[in-house]
Amino acid sequence: IRVAVIGGGRNCEHDVSVASAASVRAALDPARYEAVALTIGRDGRWYGQNGQVLDTLASGSLAAALDVLASCDVVLPLVHGPLGEDGTLAGLCELAGIPYVGSPLRAGALAMDKWATKLVAEAVGVRTARGRLVTSASTVDFTGPVVVKPVAAGSSFGVRLVEHEGELEPAVRQALELDDRVLVEEVLEGREIDIAVLDDPDQGRRTGPPLEIRVPGLFDTTVKYDGSAEFLIPAPLADTELKALEDAALKVYEALGCRGLARVDFFLTDDGLVLNEVNTMPGMTAESQVPKMFAAAGLSYPDLLDKLIRGAVR
Ligand code: DAL
Ligand code: MG
Repeated sequence: IRVAVIGGGRNCEHDVSVASAASVRAALDPARYEAVALTIGRDGRWYGQNGQVLDTLASGSLAAALDVLASCDVVLPLVHGPLGEDGTLAGLCELAGIPYVGSPLRAGALAMDKWATKLVAEAVGVRTARGRLVTSASTVDFTGPVVVKPVAAGSSFGVRLVEHEGELEPAVRQALELDDRVLVEEVLEGREIDIAVLDDPDQGRRTGPPLEIRVPGLFDTTVKYDGSAEFLIPAPLADTELKALEDAALKVYEALGCRGLARVDFFLTDDGLVLNEVNTMPGMTAESQVPKMFAAAGLSYPDLLDKLIRGAVR
């Protein structure tokens, strides 16, 4: 089975995605799969297996890249963030009639938009942080500590904890550099718990063991990738807490129309769970949360990839 593994992307999570793609290619069982590497540059160029340029943005064509995709049996789009995880790659595969792993366009687009995710989650009874949408035309008054984040970005790029009035305006301006819509949200005190949802071709839709992220302070971009965050799997939870988290993760996954796999991130506060975000293409290196969660349940990283691919080509 020829698998096109797409990594990179035209956004700030480029390097994270390159790491996910490299890790996945190395883990695919060579007896079953032939991995075909494709990388999208920060400038929008598509690079082939040997680093050769296939298409440039300036050419206005993706013909060569599409030829490679069409020569494969399935696409594994491992691009995080906008112009990848937001449904664009799923849409490309849909239009070209090529099977692909993961969520369809609509789910990717909804989940990438933290404001849309909030509306969908609240509509199915899953609480999210209170917040407001801000654009360059808005005036924002400081009324207390808030978290400022771009509506569509990932890996916490552009996310700032604002504790003092003077920090608000620069934080909003910085977030507006990554997206023209920004969320200003209440600060949540709680534990960070992630739940992975997998459409297992053998066992049906299921969740993985809960993961707790232990960090001193904010789980920001630096901490995410400097190795100082500690993952606890399974997160120590009461049965009722775990059940509520799993139910909420499944409800949101279904309401957004996700497929294949997603990581649903929560805060567990004194008042119960609060949804933080949904990643339709979460970090997929061997050391990332999702592979670690399923490994703790006895599903190895290569076997997880095998299930994802089989689920897509069925
Ligand atoms: N957005 C990053 C890649 C994650 O969810 O792991
Ligand atoms: Mg994310």
